[in-house]
Amino acid sequence: MKAWICASALVLLPMAGMAADAPPDWAYPVAPPDYKAPPDTGQPMHVPGSSLAFTQKDVDNSFDPPDWFPNDHAPMPQLVAHGKAPVVHACDQCHLTSGHGHPESANIAGLPVDYIVEQLGQFRSGMRKSSVARRSSNMIDFAKGLTDDEVKVAAEYFSKVPRHVWSKIVETDMVPKSYVGEGNMRFAAEGTAKEPIGHRIIEVPENEESAKLRDPHSGFVAYVPAGSIKTGEQLVATGGNGKTIQCTICHGADLKGVGNVPGLAGRSPIYIFRQLYDIQHGTRTGNAVALMEPVVAKLTQDDMIALASYMASRTP
Ligand code: HEC
Ligand code: HEC
Repeated sequence: MKAWICASALVLLPMAGMAADAPPDWAYPVAPPDYKAPPDTGQPMHVPGSSLAFTQKDVDNSFDPPDWFPNDHAPMPQLVAHGKAPVVHACDQCHLTSGHGHPESANIAGLPVDYIVEQLGQFRSGMRKSSVARRSSNMIDFAKGLTDDEVKVAAEYFSKVPRHVWSKIVETDMVPKSYVGEGNMRFAAEGTAKEPIGHRIIEVPENEESAKLRDPHSGFVAYVPAGSIKTGEQLVATGGNGKTIQCTICHGADLKGVGNVPGLAGRSPIYIFRQLYDIQHGTRTGNAVALMEPVVAKLTQDDMIALASYMASRTP
């Protein structure tokens, strides 16, 4: 009897492990189905430092989103500013005119041209999916509507944008209460209420109104559990006694990328976490991703939080 109990406990263990390992909500933000954005007042709106004005309709225009600072950037290719109707939205709708994007999309500023083209290829072929389908479904539809040559023009634009600090990393035990709202972005709740951070990264806009208006000057604050940066640094430096492989071997001593291997320094920590999780769970695959598979195989979610916090805290 005793042997039977032990054997069945062993059989049940991996299942229990998988159940506990569902993609965590905090990393894959999705607004609740009944979430209602505040009503559109139709009024012209502004962001600090720009003399331009746009209405909510302009902000929501998938084929001509606002360009608040036209003098900030090189002329935008048609695909970046207007997409390819009716399917492919303007890239700057989500990645912003600066490529820095929002934590629920991706910071693509300064990525290598060939890497960007390759990723669109992987979205198109079904090799790259998110563990939460909502997070990658747009990119998959867009990639299917574009050829590599069309993507290349957008890739060249974004690869030339210098990456700067976009998410400020704050170690803490307590975080502002928050919710997921417009555009599946996470926002701090009104008031000063706090809750324990637990095993999460909570990334919210520095200025909620500006972020909603797609202001490329208004960044984010990422709260990470106290001690994460140091733990991540140790994993990066030592590989954690065989738990993982030193990231700097492939991503460069300063983690800013080498050749076609993307830079990680200063990127959104929830984005980094999602990619580690997706690669570990086999939803993001690809020839070059194979190099990452032994890196992530043994990582726990806490390890991924620590690694993401450390990467995000490095100077981009
Ligand atoms: C509607 C929002 C939206 C638009 C518009 C959009 N993207 Fe994305 N993009 C995303 C999201 C969300 C992700 C993250 C997907 C994931 O995590 O799997 C992403 C990821 C990417 C990545 C992967 C970045 C990396 O580091 O691997 C690239 C490259 C990219 N997008 C390029 C583009 C280009 C080029 C365009 C314009 C043709 C575009 N995107 C338009 C939302 C968007
Ligand atoms: C043996 C080489 C190698 C090592 C070691 C390595 N990586 Fe990677 N990593 C890659 C390659 C190559 C890619 C790009 C995959 C692709 O092109 O789709 C990548 C992609 C990534 C991505 C996705 C980036 C994006 O823009 O979407 C993350 C996150 C990442 N690595 C984190 C890490 C971390 C953290 C470590 C250390 C614990 C690490 N890597 C170690 C080769 C490596």
